[in-house]
Amino acid sequence: MNNSEQKNNRRDFLFTATYTVGAVGIGATIWPFIDQMNPDSSVKALATTEVDISQIQPGKSITVLWRGKPVFIKRRTPTEISEAQSVSLDDLKHPEKDKDRVKKAEWLVMMGICSHLGCVPLSDKGDYNGWFCPCHGSHYDTSGRIRKGPAPTNMEIPVYAFIDDNTIKIG
Ligand code: FES
Repeated sequence: MNNSEQKNNRRDFLFTATYTVGAVGIGATIWPFIDQMNPDSSVKALATTEVDISQIQPGKSITVLWRGKPVFIKRRTPTEISEAQSVSLDDLKHPEKDKDRVKKAEWLVMMGICSHLGCVPLSDKGDYNGWFCPCHGSHYDTSGRIRKGPAPTNMEIPVYAFIDDNTIKIG
C-alpha cells in the first residue's frame, strides 16, 4: 500500500466513524421527543378529569393526577385569601393578580410542579404560607406565585371549570 492509499483509507475510516456517531447522537436526541408526542391510551383517556371537592375542608388541599402530572386543589381559608389578594404586584417576580389565577377565591387549582426544574413542592410550607420546593429552595405564596428562590415563574394554572359547587373538571 502506497502512502496516498493509506491516507485515503484513513480518511474513509474517519468519515465512517464520524457519520456513525452523528447518527446515534441524533437518534438518541429525537427519540424522547417523538415518544412524548405519542401519549399512550391511558394518558389519552385522562385528557379530562372530574374531581369531587366536597370533602376538602378549609385550609386543606388534595393532589390529583391529570395527564400524568400532579394538580393541587386547595380550599383556601379567609386568611390565605386575603394574604394572596393583598400582595403588591411590585413585590412579585412573576406579577399576576390573585384574582386572575382563580375562578372562585376559595379554590386554587394549579399544576403541582415547580417552575424551576419540575419537582413537586410541599404544601403549607415555606416563608409565604403556601408551598415550598425542597429541591433548590423555592417559596410560593398562597396563590402559588414564586416569592423567593430560583424558580422563574408562578406555578401554572391548568384549564379547568366548575361543573357545580362540588365538582371541578380539569382539562
Ligand atoms: S425544582 Fe423546585 S427549586 Fe428547583
